[in-house]
Amino acid sequence: MSLSQNSTIDSLADEARAQLKATFDVESSLVAVAPGRVNLIGEHIDYCDGFVLPLAIERYLVIAARPNDSTTARIGASNLDPIELDLSSRQEVGSPKWTNYLRGVIQGFMDLNYTLPGFDAYISSSIPLGAGLSSSAALECGFATLLEALVDTVLDTKDKALLAQKAEHDYADVPCGIMDQFASTFGASDQLILIDCRSGEPEMVPFSDPSLSIIVANTNISHDLTDGGYAARRKDTEDGLALIGKPSWRDATMEDVYAAQEKMGDRIFRRSRHVVTEIGRTIEAVEAFKSGDFSNIGKLMEGSHRSLRDDFEVSCDELDLMVALAQEIGFEGGVLGARMTGGGFGGSTVTLCRSSDAEAIAQQMHTRYQAQTGITPLLFATRPAPGAHLL
Ligand code: GLA
Repeated sequence: MSLSQNSTIDSLADEARAQLKATFDVESSLVAVAPGRVNLIGEHIDYCDGFVLPLAIERYLVIAARPNDSTTARIGASNLDPIELDLSSRQEVGSPKWTNYLRGVIQGFMDLNYTLPGFDAYISSSIPLGAGLSSSAALECGFATLLEALVDTVLDTKDKALLAQKAEHDYADVPCGIMDQFASTFGASDQLILIDCRSGEPEMVPFSDPSLSIIVANTNISHDLTDGGYAARRKDTEDGLALIGKPSWRDATMEDVYAAQEKMGDRIFRRSRHVVTEIGRTIEAVEAFKSGDFSNIGKLMEGSHRSLRDDFEVSCDELDLMVALAQEIGFEGGVLGARMTGGGFGGSTVTLCRSSDAEAIAQQMHTRYQAQTGITPLLFATRPAPGAHLL
């Protein structure tokens, strides 16, 4: 089997409960769940007022917890030393690095004037780390869902996603857009999430045809958005828009980009071309999904990958190879489209395919990728999954 199996939410919850008991000798009274995400199209344009089309995936982060009558949170996670956070004072950025997502979310609740009770918690996850599948957004959104229960409130879904995004900005120092946290909170079975990143409104697009599958292929080249490449791309798009002189990328056309080309210089020109053409491709892809025009979706995904590789320069050899391997199999072999997904610089690709061919496609991609790189990839199939919730 080349397609790795997805653990169920129940089995992850059982593991988190058992580890909570083993680590802190506590029975859980609450379990929160949040999914990772994969993006079908609309890449690196969520911070440009664009449209994006992600889905929550059947890979989850699960937190089992119980209040502990103190003002301290004790939190354990697989393969990590347990940590303690003081909930009675302002959260500062600290170490280890992964705790900053938690610190940011705690501070978000404090900013809303909630007093958090102490608790013990244990985190289990089936979302591969550094794979461009939003393990950090799942941590923020799952943790926010747990804190909602601890203070006995339910935040508006959009407010919860924005609180999680702010945690990432202020505590993890990644100036991300809204896609990942929206996908992890608004996710729903059988639905893609079309996000209008200018209005901040999601619209659900049905994806329920069982004959279609989505394969995620993690190249196992780890990506790290905190190392500056992501922030640099975002800055390039801001510079591009300033040179165009319009208030939003949504008002910009390719004519505007050409008119500013000389002032922009080559790099900013190419970044700008990516933004404008990717917004166009995403709008077209949504239409194609709604009308079932899959040959067009394939072309749009291919165009998106090329643009991310050549103009936005966020791909890498291994992502290009994984996409090429899917494209070689082609329409006859059941591949409808493939591209890199997420922030890039490593991470995963997404392949839309016919379900009946999914195992054979994965087998071929797995074997050839491994033969050519010496790296064992991780491939799994997913359908759109539910967003963050309590069990
Ligand atoms: C990361 C960010 C998102 C988005 C993608 C690229 O996942 O967190 O906001 O910008 O990269 O589309």
